[in-house]
Amino acid sequence: MGERRVDQWEKRLGLRVPPGPYRAVLATELARVGADADNDSELDDATLAAITGAVVSGHTYFFRDADQLGAVVELLGRCTERPRLWCAGCSTGEEPYSVAILAAEAGLEVDLVATDINPEAVAWARAGRYPASALRHVPPELLARYFRSNPSGYLIDAGLRERVQFEVHDLFSGVPPAGGLAWDVILCRNVLIYYQPSKGVAWAASVRGWLKRDGGLVLGASDHLAATLGTAHQVRGWPVYRAAPAGAGVPDGPVRPDLYRRALDEIDAGDPAAAENTLATHLARRSGDVVAWLSLGNLHLSRHDFVGAERCYREALALAPTLAEAHFWRGVLRRKQGDQDDALRALRAARFLAPEFWPAAALLGSLWNRRGDRARGRAEHERALALLEGNTENPFQARVRGLPGLQMSADELRALARA
Ligand SMILES: C[S@@+](CC[C@H](N)C(=O)[O-])C[C@H]1O[C@@H](n2cnc3c(N)ncnc32)[C@H](O)[C@@H]1O
Repeated sequence: MGERRVDQWEKRLGLRVPPGPYRAVLATELARVGADADNDSELDDATLAAITGAVVSGHTYFFRDADQLGAVVELLGRCTERPRLWCAGCSTGEEPYSVAILAAEAGLEVDLVATDINPEAVAWARAGRYPASALRHVPPELLARYFRSNPSGYLIDAGLRERVQFEVHDLFSGVPPAGGLAWDVILCRNVLIYYQPSKGVAWAASVRGWLKRDGGLVLGASDHLAATLGTAHQVRGWPVYRAAPAGAGVPDGPVRPDLYRRALDEIDAGDPAAAENTLATHLARRSGDVVAWLSLGNLHLSRHDFVGAERCYREALALAPTLAEAHFWRGVLRRKQGDQDDALRALRAARFLAPEFWPAAALLGSLWNRRGDRARGRAEHERALALLEGNTENPFQARVRGLPGLQMSADELRALARA
């Protein structure tokens, strides 16, 4: 495969692969899967993940930048409820186990979910077997407390192993990991350096909506995103990026695959039938794209195909049960079908999951009004208005063309809130 093709694929995957052995691996992998950047073919998720897993180094070890891990545990210790940490790009598990050890030492119970795109790395992490070289920075007393030596190296203590839940997950998938949303800390170190800066910045900005209001995003010392991500507060001198100030708790920036973008263009061009076809093709390859399911559901909804819409929203909710926008659209569907009780339940779920998501409050207000409860209706409209005025961004991820009346303007809301 020629250098030009490799360059094109590097860009397409959003990767940054320096000249040297990993670039050669990229060329070999691309040739293996028959990738051709000149045609518009899309490779399926598993193939793309395998390529990424092969060209991104999995280098890691216990207590890497231990001072920063100490700062993370300090952050977790400030939580008022049982803290939740997502370790994204955990490789073979040394990093999340190090956090688990430090947390145990501090007497902290933590919900810890660790993910990586590389299934082999995750299998290693689950097994918890390590060579002595991976443990070279573990203080002797912790080594004695949390590891058992055996002829081939060390086995992590079973109790500690149970404290970390591992999962194969692509952090750019747009779908949160098994633990859902509302993290106290998202830890992602030495992963984004392998991606083009714009992709890393978009990801970091988008997952800040997955943090609790007081939560923080912690990146690696070499992930130079500080300038673009805005102000961070510091813990022990380590920057911690705050949760997004407002929003629906859903991502708004991951690089979208080509077919999804084409479907959005077709929606914009007023050709919903073509968009439906394109989205269906896209989802046959990327069945985990929750936002595409919502977009397809909305297209069905706009032509009153309630059964089709229901199926799509159900798929989205199965993938991301804590995604406020998925509950919201299900509520919209139920309202259109005349099932006010269920619509109310779905919208309240959306409002609970993402209190800043003003469309849920706006629609809830209208629903209460329709049920004759004017006081609750006004309260919800006032709440939606305050949120909208504080945050002028449209918080929808899925395209809402063809569903007029949902993108309420501030003026309309104001009138409702004062009615
Ligand atoms: C250098 S290791 C970092 C391990 C650990 N975070 C540390 O700092 O020691 C990078 C890891 O990121 C993973 N990775 C790369 N792209 C990813 C993606 N899109 N989603 C999830 N993990 C990814 C790789 O498989 C690899 O295991």
